[in-house]
Amino acid sequence: MSRLLFFSNNKNKIIEIKKIFNKFNIELISLNDLKISEEPEEKGQTFEENAKIKSDYGFNKTGIPCFADDSGICIESLNWKPGVLSKRFLNNFKSNEACFESIIKSTKKNCKQNAYFKTSISLTIKDEQNIVFNGKIDGKISERAKGRFGFGYDPIFIPKNYNKTLAELNTKEKNEISHRSIAVTKLINFLTN
Ligand code: IMP
Repeated sequence: MSRLLFFSNNKNKIIEIKKIFNKFNIELISLNDLKISEEPEEKGQTFEENAKIKSDYGFNKTGIPCFADDSGICIESLNWKPGVLSKRFLNNFKSNEACFESIIKSTKKNCKQNAYFKTSISLTIKDEQNIVFNGKIDGKISERAKGRFGFGYDPIFIPKNYNKTLAELNTKEKNEISHRSIAVTKLINFLTN
């Protein structure tokens, strides 16, 4: 397989994933390259289900082998939510900063600092045939938002055994440990073996 569609319009995710794919002889194209802007409704209850909805949709629309990721943060002080609703949860606040403040407050109030990011990648190669690869990174919610790299919840997430937030790590450093790079590496191993 030499041409692969990554079903995403998220510029930051595309940058992270293209950097990982660079070392391999696989041409990665994104929705933007094909001028596709419509995306299916993510009705799944799990990251795996939502990733499959997107990779099946991309394959059916283009006929090109397609993978999609669905990711999010699960926070102990919020009963391990927002999970699959991570994007909507963040967008419900007037700003990212307001969302971070609310999470940090609940973390302190409940004395529960743990959190993790999860990514599920679904690869659809043929009609009705998909394979899922998962990646997870454990960590904790920081005492304040820090850093200017990355996106989403990166400024408030400190990976286990680190003392910096993900937003204080550059793309290369984040890619060495992130949930997404763990799942993408599994995908690449599958594609190249
Ligand atoms: P999506 O549905 O997979 O696009 O991701 C849902 C949301 O989870 C994103 O909009 C981000 O807010 C958050 N998210 C996913 N991956 C990351 C990450 O690597 N860092 C920070 N936030 C992330």
